[in-house]
Amino acid sequence: MGRVLRNPKLWLFAACLLPLARLVALGASGGLGANPIEFITRSTGTWTLVGLLVTLAVTPLRRLTGRAGLIRYRRMLGLFAFFYACLHFTTYIWLDQFFDLAGIGKDIVKRPFITVGFAAFVLLIPLAVTSNHRMMRRLGRRWQQLHRLIYPIALLGVIHYLWLVKKDVTQPLIFGAVLTLLLIMRLPWRLGALQTLWPFGAVKPAKAGRRRADDARKGRGVNAAGSFSRGQ
Ligand code: HEM
Repeated sequence: MGRVLRNPKLWLFAACLLPLARLVALGASGGLGANPIEFITRSTGTWTLVGLLVTLAVTPLRRLTGRAGLIRYRRMLGLFAFFYACLHFTTYIWLDQFFDLAGIGKDIVKRPFITVGFAAFVLLIPLAVTSNHRMMRRLGRRWQQLHRLIYPIALLGVIHYLWLVKKDVTQPLIFGAVLTLLLIMRLPWRLGALQTLWPFGAVKPAKAGRRRADDARKGRGVNAAGSFSRGQ
């Protein structure tokens, strides 16, 4: 039992459930405000975006700190982002639209912020479905290419947020700035510039390539895309 409780993955799992627990607690105590559906939609939307950005932060953090073991949390974080996206979408189609498929279709076509949100959600599905070991091994190099979709997905998420707010765009711009920073942080390693300068990033490209291929074979995730791989 003690060993189980000392497992950081368990604590991370519990932490990822907190936004949902908060919604349930607020719902039970009548604390969701005058428009509970809007509250739930906004909360789950925000946590989807946070989840995507935290997932994208794992790779730069690993490189900056040299803590390669952080990779083992990435898959869970990515899947939690997908989980909140599912809740967000379900809230919309169920509580907001009452399964009015014609209305939903019209919304997707006519309201640009819904169009990009929907596109982001649809693109997330193959990442979630292929996030396991077996698919990683089966897809080989294509797995990595597929999981690079995380970048446009996060960007669509930010655009979705930016387009839906009517007045104050501060929050979506903050999300956009964080995403830009996370992408910029990847560049030096991509270009190989910091690999020799930064003590923890000193993995030669050829070696890195070999190791990635090796790890992909063993089912470990060290993909540059930094999306849903499970890691060691
Ligand atoms: C990866 C996919 C998605 C992300 C990251 C995302 C993110 C967000 C965010 C951050 C918000 C605003 C939260 C706030 O106001 O504090 C939001 C609101 C919303 N989203 Fe999404 N969303 C996604 C997909 C979708 C989809 C698929 C739909 C419906 C088809 C949708 C419909 C909505 C609606 C209706 C709102 C509330 C708009 C309002 O209050 O005026 N979203 N979403």
